[in-house]
Amino acid sequence: MQSHSTFQTRFPPAWLWLVDEAIPSWVKSHYSPKASWKDKPFGPPDAEFFFKGIKELSELFTEDRPKHMPHYLNHPRYRSSYLLYFVPLQAAKFHTVFQLHPGAMDAAIKHAQQTGVLRVADLGAGPGTASIGLLLWLLDQKNKPESQFKIEFEWFDMNRSIMEDGKSIVEMISSHFPRLRDRVSVKIHAGPWSNAGHLIQGETSLILVGHVLNEAARGELGPSSDEHAPVDRSSPVKALGRLFPKMKGGGVLIVEPAERRSSQMVSQIRDQIIEDELVPAEGSSIWGPCLHAGRCPLASGRDWCHFSIPAEIPGKWFRTFSKNLSSGTEKQWVKFSYVWFASPDYPSKPAAAHLRRVISDPLKKPGLPNSILLCEQDRPRRLEIPPVTHLKRGDIINVLQVNNTSIKSRAKGEEDDELFGRAMARKKRGKFPPKYPANPDHAFESDSSRKSFSEARGYKTRGPRSSKKKK
Ligand SMILES: C[S@@+](CC[C@H](N)C(=O)[O-])C[C@H]1O[C@@H](n2cnc3c(N)ncnc32)[C@H](O)[C@@H]1O
Repeated sequence: MQSHSTFQTRFPPAWLWLVDEAIPSWVKSHYSPKASWKDKPFGPPDAEFFFKGIKELSELFTEDRPKHMPHYLNHPRYRSSYLLYFVPLQAAKFHTVFQLHPGAMDAAIKHAQQTGVLRVADLGAGPGTASIGLLLWLLDQKNKPESQFKIEFEWFDMNRSIMEDGKSIVEMISSHFPRLRDRVSVKIHAGPWSNAGHLIQGETSLILVGHVLNEAARGELGPSSDEHAPVDRSSPVKALGRLFPKMKGGGVLIVEPAERRSSQMVSQIRDQIIEDELVPAEGSSIWGPCLHAGRCPLASGRDWCHFSIPAEIPGKWFRTFSKNLSSGTEKQWVKFSYVWFASPDYPSKPAAAHLRRVISDPLKKPGLPNSILLCEQDRPRRLEIPPVTHLKRGDIINVLQVNNTSIKSRAKGEEDDELFGRAMARKKRGKFPPKYPANPDHAFESDSSRKSFSEARGYKTRGPRSSKKKK
């Protein structure tokens, strides 16, 4: 469990080799339009040539994706772009989340040590971006855990070509580093990821799901023909549910873009998984970012749960592409939404009751005290903070300390501004801040008048949630 303001992603030296040498030369030798270019080193004219596809793909990956996402990876132009720019970008997100949750990674490694195999399912694998992030994470571990087991990747994607490309790159990585040599294998399953539960034999040490649910939900898993109708979430939940009995070790990590639609979809899928009792409704079922297993307060509405972590993704070509995409500004952050479920056999350590995750940046409104939102079940809590603060999104705070400082908290609702107005008036009359109950959980009690979860989300009602596991 890691607070974010003290965290910066660390990248191993292998990263630079991969993104500046290995991938560019592989792409050039497989995707150059002219045979005479293929064997020459990747240089600025190549960057210029391949940037066109990167720019187009980047435009396609906006929040307003077309209803039927084109099969962009069928096209060599976009496969090469994905490898050059999106693999480093998305792998950096996985690499970051792995570092944020060392406990989950330890669980995956422990399972691999017990079984002799680190078996990793990568759903919607593309070129195996998440798997590549994992290999780089392993190369960054000082105690060389990978020398004690084999590493078997099982990739699932509709597009065989991009997986073949990725497999070639993984083979290049594993043959380059003695630590990985002869230990890594990749099995490709071309088809919908929702088949993974039927196809995976035996236990998994880790299941990775990267940047696919928002696409899949609109494709074969999302039957809605109406752009504005809610996307059917039950299919991804069912498909994930088939995997849960095989999920051991580090559990299942879902990473999606930081934008609202994708993030709220992750939150809704998370809630439904808990509601359906696919995992026990306990804090130990989740590695992060949630510190509780109650309903996500940001699964709908104006705000959404996402994080920005300082990260200077290494690589001169990556920097060139990202600067060109954002008019000269360098990428200093990785941004994503995620949820990481723990396997019941390898549970996470539940957070202490007095800890809360900050789920907003400091909110500043003219004439009002600054505040932040805290993650509470069902609805966020607004917490008044001093004008100068180091608190930021993703931090974990101790609400017992909150009681001992001038930081104040209260329910966030539609009446917020009115409440704030009243609070300010009381402050002027010298009756503010109010005293808080000794038990912070009482101070943060949720509003029982809210709609039920199922009502609010339009899910079918299944009766009260119990902590018992489904038989
Ligand atoms: C944005 S890419 C993500 C690739 C990789 N996971 C990453 O994080 O970079 C989305 C991938 O999902 C695949 N995809 C989309 N819908 C799918 C589905 N229903 N089943 C399997 N793969 C799917 C696409 O072919 C594509 O490779």
